[in-house]
Amino acid sequence: MAAEKGQKPALKRLYVETYGCQMNVYDSERMKDVLAPLGYTPTEDQSSADMVILNTCHIREKATEKVYSELGRLRERKAERAKEGMDTTIVVAGCVAQAEGEEIMARAPVVDLVVGPQAYHKLPELIAKAARAKGERLAADFDAEAKFDSLPEPKAEGVTAFLSVQEGCDKFCTFCVVPYTRGAEFSRPVDAIVAEARSLVRQGVREITLLGQNVNAFHGTGPDGKDWSLAQLLGHLAKIDRLDRLRYATSHPNEMTDDLIALHGEEEKLMPYLHLPVQTGSDRVLKAMNRKHTAERFLAIIDKIRKARPDIAVSSDFIVGFPGERDQDFEDTLKLVRATGFASAFSFKYSRRPGTPAAEMMAQIPEDVKDARLQALQAVLRDQQNAFNQSQIGRTLPVLVERPGRRPGQSQGRSPYMQAVHFESHRPDLIGEIVPVTICAASLNSLTAEAA
Ligand code: 5AD
Ligand code: SF4
Repeated sequence: MAAEKGQKPALKRLYVETYGCQMNVYDSERMKDVLAPLGYTPTEDQSSADMVILNTCHIREKATEKVYSELGRLRERKAERAKEGMDTTIVVAGCVAQAEGEEIMARAPVVDLVVGPQAYHKLPELIAKAARAKGERLAADFDAEAKFDSLPEPKAEGVTAFLSVQEGCDKFCTFCVVPYTRGAEFSRPVDAIVAEARSLVRQGVREITLLGQNVNAFHGTGPDGKDWSLAQLLGHLAKIDRLDRLRYATSHPNEMTDDLIALHGEEEKLMPYLHLPVQTGSDRVLKAMNRKHTAERFLAIIDKIRKARPDIAVSSDFIVGFPGERDQDFEDTLKLVRATGFASAFSFKYSRRPGTPAAEMMAQIPEDVKDARLQALQAVLRDQQNAFNQSQIGRTLPVLVERPGRRPGQSQGRSPYMQAVHFESHRPDLIGEIVPVTICAASLNSLTAEAA
């Protein structure tokens, strides 16, 4: 059949594998959106995909290794498909692409295209060029504004959605690659964010999480031409009808402004959950990390926010085994954890990232010491998470129903505190509704409830 003008492009299958943070989850969806007009339909089955995109993460060593081992598997898959006359396009996107583009192309010739996080709007053009095997194979721009302006309206999947409002980071914590892979700090204009939020709500979204590497440093231009704070933006979004819940991640203690803290006490749609990475409880290590705050300052922020919103669930990130960390420094971390009481937390062994200041520091900590500290820290954090979940038993909580549960007749959703909640309902029509349920049991990772 001859190709006619205006004819739909042939159906092609697109598989996207996402590594790392929520920014990547958001970006993966946007890549699917931008490729849809080219005839790419998302598939869950990698083996049948005509295009595979690895949306990579560079934050810790293991994340990078995973990408290379996946590329090894993809080389075999591509060769097998080629035997059957099928072509497979392999794209590496995300932060590894940004940081190690040249190296990937040298190490993994199976890769057709390498594209950094600020160039996703160019994907259709880059893919066409790569197909002609003579064009740009590496796109690592740093122009976040161009990216957002050129991406199509996002398609919502389900009743919760991410919305990227801020990208990049100028903080330069000495352990972190983000300022190098995601570039300088950039905030989107308020109007563009509101338009995206409205579109998501029209598609059935009830809860939006605003995303940014430093989301509370948001300073986008408002409709009045002035820079708006995250608190102003959240207050404005809260006015959207049928948008019932707002969250934001990830924050930096130094940007935890009074207006944002106050909003937690005033705005019912703002969920009582705060992810506020502290990394360590030792002032010595905080200084070496270039965090520019002390343990006391972090505790003071938590105090203030609990005064504004007593039931707030606090979560954080920790790094153990940063260069030069002594036993006493680690004890200080445990002390901060006990003083705070976390509802959940992520903790990592320090991972040396080439090009960052900490990678060059003397006194790197031996692996076995890092292991022991991580285990000790995680034991305390696990106890706190368990205690927090147990403390919900007997309470009636509003749950946003997201999907059918694991077992027939069950529904699954989230509490205001981000806990996964399972309950019997036999009501598939509840998806997208906020229903009161009474918590009757709790485990480390979820709550069980009865319809109230
Ligand atoms: N090693 C270990 N953990 C790291 N993180 C960032 N960089 C590193 C590193 N080099 C952790 C921090 C950050 C989270 C997203 O990842 O805790 O908050
Ligand atoms: Fe990395 Fe620090 Fe920026 Fe967070 S604030 S992204 S840890 S440099």
